[in-house]
Amino acid sequence: MVDAPPWIYRHGDGVDGLLAHGPVDHTITDPPFSLDVEEGNDAIEVRSNQFKFDAMTEDLRNRTARAVAQQTRRWALVFCSIEEAHLWRFALISAGMSYWRTGLWVRENTAPQFNGMGPAQGFEAIVIAHSRALSQRWNGGGKPAIWSARIVKVDRMHETQKPWDLMRDLVCDFTDEGETIADPFAGVATTGIAALGLGRRFVGWELNEEHYANGVKRLELPLLDPRPRTPVQTSIGDAIKPKGARTRARMELDRSVLNALEAVGTDGVLASGLVDLADGTRRQIDRSLKRLQTHGAVVRKGRTSQTRWFSANHPPETTP
Ligand SMILES: C[S@@+](CC[C@H](N)C(=O)[O-])C[C@H]1O[C@@H](n2cnc3c(N)ncnc32)[C@H](O)[C@@H]1O
Repeated sequence: MVDAPPWIYRHGDGVDGLLAHGPVDHTITDPPFSLDVEEGNDAIEVRSNQFKFDAMTEDLRNRTARAVAQQTRRWALVFCSIEEAHLWRFALISAGMSYWRTGLWVRENTAPQFNGMGPAQGFEAIVIAHSRALSQRWNGGGKPAIWSARIVKVDRMHETQKPWDLMRDLVCDFTDEGETIADPFAGVATTGIAALGLGRRFVGWELNEEHYANGVKRLELPLLDPRPRTPVQTSIGDAIKPKGARTRARMELDRSVLNALEAVGTDGVLASGLVDLADGTRRQIDRSLKRLQTHGAVVRKGRTSQTRWFSANHPPETTP
């Protein structure tokens, strides 16, 4: 038997494509934003000057939501402006999905508001929904729906290209190895690159020929960075790192600590025991546990050196 290819990328309409393709495990997509909710600022001008694609319409949103709901077995994640998040929420619910919540991508290096008339836009929304067919779970423990990453400014192939590490974080948090992730509005296939780097399969569509061709080139390249977030394979404090690497290393350690706590379940573990499980020094692990505790992702029982830590998903069993 010949294995299915790890990725399929097609030039064409993503809604029709997804409907024809059949079921996928997840849909993670970044469709065009609507114009109607952006009216009143410069967005229309910007779009007509720079973007090679049309804005989202009500019809396309509803068709997309129906196709996504029909074909997605587990999570659907849709990037949009915060102003249109409620429209995607309504469309996905109407199409039969269960709405979970709206998350945020915090754009670390967002452009300033050049005219200085008010604050700049610092984030994008991610509407998160789940199929009603399967039970819901994810890999992110109890942490909030906030992801932080820098906008792509160097070597960008697409005017609204998503940062690869942002997509990697979403793929890690919501999907499992071997699963198939669809992106019906794939641009230059950033979702696909992240999916393949983490051992997932990818199926995507893109309407614009140039973006599609660049997406294929990227998918055919050796993986950008096949390093999964867990187990952590970078040594923290390594020599020269790009800006933000320290934050990222912290996030990776937090993830690895949380995964270790998930794995031990209601038994919990001493902080000293986590040193072996989560690949960090005792001091780093202690700091990580404090961060996770602040986010409500972990709980502790006992005092001082006998403190046992538990994932918030697996609190200690209380004695009657
Ligand atoms: C916001 S961009 C996605 C960028 C992508 N996240 C990336 O990192 O490259 C949306 C893309 O959807 C494409 N698009 C718009 N309508 C489409 C449709 N009906 N089917 C497939 N692609 C479509 C646009 O050409 C555009 O490249």
